[in-house]
Amino acid sequence: MASVNDNQQAGLRRAFENFSTYRSTPDKALDLFAQARTGCPVPHSQELGGFHLLLTYEDVRAALMDWRTFGNGPHALRPIAEGVPRLPPIDFDPPEHTAWRNIFNAGINAKTADRIAPLVLADVANCIDRFVGKGECDLVADLAERVPMLALFHVLGLDEGSHEHVRRLTLALLASAADRPRFSQIFAQFAKFGKAEVEKRRIAPRDDYLTTLAEARIDGRLLDEEEIGAVTNSVLLAGHGTTVISMTNLFYEVLSRPRIKQALLADPGLIPAAVEETLRLHTPFFGLYRRVNADTMVNGTELREGESVYLCWQSANRDSTVFEDADDFRLDRDHSRHLTFGRGRHSCTGAATARMELCVALEQLLLRVPDVELIAPETVKAEFRGAETAAIGSLPARFKAQ
Ligand code: HEM
Repeated sequence: MASVNDNQQAGLRRAFENFSTYRSTPDKALDLFAQARTGCPVPHSQELGGFHLLLTYEDVRAALMDWRTFGNGPHALRPIAEGVPRLPPIDFDPPEHTAWRNIFNAGINAKTADRIAPLVLADVANCIDRFVGKGECDLVADLAERVPMLALFHVLGLDEGSHEHVRRLTLALLASAADRPRFSQIFAQFAKFGKAEVEKRRIAPRDDYLTTLAEARIDGRLLDEEEIGAVTNSVLLAGHGTTVISMTNLFYEVLSRPRIKQALLADPGLIPAAVEETLRLHTPFFGLYRRVNADTMVNGTELREGESVYLCWQSANRDSTVFEDADDFRLDRDHSRHLTFGRGRHSCTGAATARMELCVALEQLLLRVPDVELIAPETVKAEFRGAETAAIGSLPARFKAQ
């Protein structure tokens, strides 16, 4: 691949000086990353307190695996989340991370997906029942925004009566990521609610994650109210928006490509490949931050202890030295390599659950409403929202009313 000359490199460096996802669009950012990967792979931005960006697949993967040099603490969402409570396990490094991670792994693991799959299937069916007679729907509001939150309620073990309360709290918390006093206020409500639920399970255990939390110990003692709140928050924050965005992207990618849609209708066994290819092409978070814990060199650039580094897995997943025709949607790839669920110590504990939700939602949609098509797919655009996510807000679709 052709490298850039000195002038082009200087131009790229300048282009990154004021880069942040708050000042760009997903399309512009992808274009800039593609140019930089070949000639300026570790640019620096002065925004948000200053940070380096790692953009190539190998640089991002290597940093994910090297937690000693690239630490998550004190905030993986730094600088966006500075000042808000640290969320376990993502905001911690070993040895604290290991203790928290064990608590998460005990309740959210590969078996979780199997346990809740029948419940997710029923939720998807209910959502489709509500719009199937109308001949049109918004696949975001009517399906993608509903299923992942219900799935997390099943993971936690929340009774239906509390769903609306927790849904409102979760959405309010997400919306207040940049408003620290409000975030802390909602966080406290969450903690109180979580503690009360855990207390119920101490008296009458169930087969759910809140019961796991009721028995979980840190440093030999049971979790306190704030810690229970932090864990339940983490599950809801990590597992909701990410899966909503991915489900929306999946519907968009499949329904805006008639040949892919036909292939999946003819052979639903291809649906998992469509899910992985969507996840590779569109990471809900473009990336997250790390703190440099020791001076180091990456791809010819010196990084100093204490600096911030943005690990951009969205750019890594489009690296054409690893993925042939990286911007194309292809079902015939080795899908095990993308970095959408991270790698190493912090890799996503909910990956199996998220994959199951995406597969079930698309399978049911194609089965129940095979003629579904997007209205004006050419107008659909992803936009950056707070906290580094890139999302499509609405997907109007039509079909023959049943
Ligand atoms: C498509 C949906 C999802 C995507 C793309 C995604 C992506 C990720 C990524 C990239 C990380 C690593 C962050 C880092 O290295 O700093 C992560 C961590 C995490 N995810 Fe997910 N996630 C998804 C769904 C879920 C779900 C459904 C759950 C819960 C049921 C969940 C729970 C977590 C937790 C608890 C962590 C922190 C792990 C740790 O720090 O050790 N995620 N996720």
